[in-house]
Order: sequence, then structure tokens, then C-alpha cells
Amino acid sequence: MRDQTFADDFRTQFDLLLRLRRDVRRFRTDPVDEAVLARCLDAFRLAPSVGLSEPWRVIRVESEAARAAALKNFQTANNDALAGYSGDKAQLYSRLKLSGMQEAPVQLVVFCDESTDKGMGLGAGTMPEMRRYSVVSAITLFWLALRAEGLGLGWVSILNPDQMTRDLNVPEDWRLIGYFCVGWPERVADTPELEQVGWENRAERLAIEIR
Ligand SMILES: Cc1cc2nc3c(=O)[nH]c(=O)nc-3n(C[C@H](O)[C@H](O)[C@H](O)COP(=O)(O)O)c2cc1C
Repeated sequence: MRDQTFADDFRTQFDLLLRLRRDVRRFRTDPVDEAVLARCLDAFRLAPSVGLSEPWRVIRVESEAARAAALKNFQTANNDALAGYSGDKAQLYSRLKLSGMQEAPVQLVVFCDESTDKGMGLGAGTMPEMRRYSVVSAITLFWLALRAEGLGLGWVSILNPDQMTRDLNVPEDWRLIGYFCVGWPERVADTPELEQVGWENRAERLAIEIR
């Protein structure tokens, strides 16, 4: 392939994509075109992975029973999390919307296969967690690909991973990375929702230490 450079226009647009990526919890319920979704899912195949192990395992949650089990898992974990706060923080936490599982038209669960032979262990010897990081890298690309289509992704991690593994009947060596809601966002914002509601702020700048 010829050396490919990217135009200034593209860089400007790419910067905008990064700024407007957002974690989305408020979705419209209209369906997502399958061809568009497939194009975005292709980001997984293009993602980096330790030793080219491609340890991501993706499950599409479609049945009512599987969605109900996942929602119950989230609600239980979220109630437990709420119990860990008190006073104003508890008040604020109880008002947060931390998943779009009741609305999102597409729902995916992503696991990391901790015992994959692919890549023959290259790079994962001293730090096996590199496989999980590979899966997270792929999700980040998927996130951007969706946003570039105008779609949104919401990462749900307030879950009991063992329960999820059992409910979906997946191998025990698969480690839950996240539950993902995908669909058309109700609105676009240039600041995180947690910032908008006063929970936490994004850092003004990246601190880099010198050694
Ligand atoms: C690993 C990971 C797990 C997350 N889990 C949740 C979650 O369970 N529920 C939720 O509402 N947001 C979750 N988020 C989204 C973050 O709250 C969000 O990324 C952060 O507030 C910054 O907002 P932004 O993504 O819109 O920039 C998660 C994000 C990451 C990267």
C-alpha cells in the first residue's frame, strides 16, 4: 500500500470525533441499520492485540430472557453501589442514569478469552492482563467507529461478572470486559454526563511526570 497521509481536514474532524465521543446512556429506540453496525464491528478486526491473540469474544444479547437477566444483574449491582454512598453523594448517585439497557436497540457483551492459544502467548507471559487491555483497545476503536456514524455507545460495568458469565453460559476462562449499549443518542454533548450533573470533572490537562 502507498504511504498514506491524512489531510488537515481529516485531522480537524478526527479531533472533533474525539471530543464528541461521549459515553451514552440515553438512547432513542429506533433500530440500527445492520450494515452500519457490521461496518463498526469491523473495528475489532482492525484493533491491536498482544501477540495478535485477538482475545475478544462478543455476544449479542437479543432474547428477552438474556436481556432481563442482564438488567437484573445491573440493577442489583447498582443498588449495592448506592448503598456504599451516604448523604448528598447518595442522593446524587441515586439520580444518575448509569445504563441504557432498557432502551438501547443493540446490546453486546464483550469478554476476554484468558486462555486463547492464538498468538502462542507472545507478550502475555509476564503480564497476562495484556489480553484484557487488547480487548479494551478494540472497544475504543469500536466506540469511535460508532460515533463517526452518529451512533452512541454506553459502557456498563456495574455488574456481577460471575453472574453474567453464568447467565450467558460462556466458558469460565472468559473474563467479562463490559456490557455495551449501542444506538442513536438522544442528544450530543461536548462534556461527559457525569460532569454535567456535578459528579466529577474531566482534568484540564494531562499531567506528565519526568524522570
Ligand atoms: C471501563 C469503563 C467502564 C464504565 N462503566 C460505566 C457504567 O457502568 N455506567 C456508566 O454510566 N458509565 C460507565 N462508563 C462511562 C464513564 O462514566 C464515562 O466514560 C466518563 O464519565 C467520561 O464521559 P465520556 O465517556 O462521555 O467522555 C464507563 C467507562 C469506562 C471506560
